[in-house]
Amino acid sequence: MNQEVLEEARKVLEDSLVYYQNEPVGTVAAKDLSVDLINYDQVFTRDFVVSGIAFLLEGRHEVVKNFLTHLLFLQSKEKSLNCFRPGRGMMPASFKVDFQQNREVLLPDFGEKAIGRVAPVDAPLWWIYLLRIYVRFTNDGSFARRDDVQHGIRLILDLCLNDRFDQFPTLLVPDGSFMIDRRMGVYGYPLDIQSLFYLALRSANELLVDNDDNKPYREAVLERLGHLTYHIRTYYWMDFGRLNELYRSKVELYGEDSVNRFNIYPDTIPRWLGKWIPDNGGYFVGNLGPARMDFRFFTAGNLMTVLGSLASPEHVMKMMALFRSNWSSLVGHMPIKVCYPALRSDQWRILTGSDPKNTAWSYQNAGGWPFLVWLFTAVALLTGDIDLVEETMRLVEARVVADKWPEYYDGSQNRLVGKQAMLYQTWTAAGYIVAQRLVDQPEMVEHLIFREDVTINECTTRAARWVEKW
Ligand code: GLC
Repeated sequence: MNQEVLEEARKVLEDSLVYYQNEPVGTVAAKDLSVDLINYDQVFTRDFVVSGIAFLLEGRHEVVKNFLTHLLFLQSKEKSLNCFRPGRGMMPASFKVDFQQNREVLLPDFGEKAIGRVAPVDAPLWWIYLLRIYVRFTNDGSFARRDDVQHGIRLILDLCLNDRFDQFPTLLVPDGSFMIDRRMGVYGYPLDIQSLFYLALRSANELLVDNDDNKPYREAVLERLGHLTYHIRTYYWMDFGRLNELYRSKVELYGEDSVNRFNIYPDTIPRWLGKWIPDNGGYFVGNLGPARMDFRFFTAGNLMTVLGSLASPEHVMKMMALFRSNWSSLVGHMPIKVCYPALRSDQWRILTGSDPKNTAWSYQNAGGWPFLVWLFTAVALLTGDIDLVEETMRLVEARVVADKWPEYYDGSQNRLVGKQAMLYQTWTAAGYIVAQRLVDQPEMVEHLIFREDVTINECTTRAARWVEKW
């Protein structure tokens, strides 16, 4: 272990704390004093999840409880026909502490102020998952059982499980609705949202108290988990066998017997894929909708399928084989690319809207994000790929302190500090702390994951039977 790096990381995390009424309630996204922070001086929900896990591993439970409580307070609770109000159940992407008439107030941003006005679909999903992690670490079940907390969970489920236009088990979302919060061709049914949705549903399944109010929710959650498991495992999975099948697949098939249900044209298979996918490896594709398969590899979405046991043991094995065989393109000099490969030329122009921040191999367009090391470490410890854990930690430790904890790295092998990367980015430090603490106490990974579950397996079998007739 590199004690010096760990101490530095702790300092960055400590410095990032935000206080409200004299209590720590969250962490700012970055504390880079050399630039205009825009909104990085706010507490981002998704960023705080990494800080929160770091605090839990360090025995600092109160910060996490405060954060969960205040975010619940900020949750949109009123039903409103005003289309500019956040939907009931929604939670903010970020919040800040403001002073109004000499009083401290919490000001949320549900995306209405964010660049591009992106909707943070992931925020309420992260909240449920962090709540479950908090309960696992602290055994503070009484907090989760509180009426207001149970109500908050039900509101989120209403938002996700209600009637909508499409008829898939996956969630339909606009572009940039999660960690990738700019236009990047990730609208529709992006994997990152689906695997986080799955974690949120599994959390709700554990956290919802068995009572009359919750009964229909508990049933709906289980049913959805079954359908999601079947849908993602069947239609999103890609390995060499699937690729070959798709390559030879018929199109324009109508009705129940159609094998190519989404009418994916073999011509849309990108050239890089055949070379990139190893014989023994596989992954879940980035997105799937009518006549559209986004073949890009998204790291967080894939790793989260392992945490939730949405990936089967065979999938997990193949995913790790894929990481090994593509180590230089996914990890290179710094873990880990947010996605692979980068969008270039016309694709970049059309799908990002010529976004100068998301040029090829930079930022969200296949840049390297060191905070992802927490997810990778949790998964690699589970699968016993200890050499990969050691290698990623070595790469982080070799540079992050000297580079001042950058938000991201650029280049096809993550070698350059990102062009516009914030320094002293909190989740870069928190991600390292989580990874290091998990290495020290691998048994703690249990608090972050969900094991395979007999009831969910039964629901999946039922879903499969049902879908045959679909
Ligand atoms: C960037 C990231 C986003 C993150 C925010 C604050 O916009 O893409 O995921 O929450 O910065 O760090």
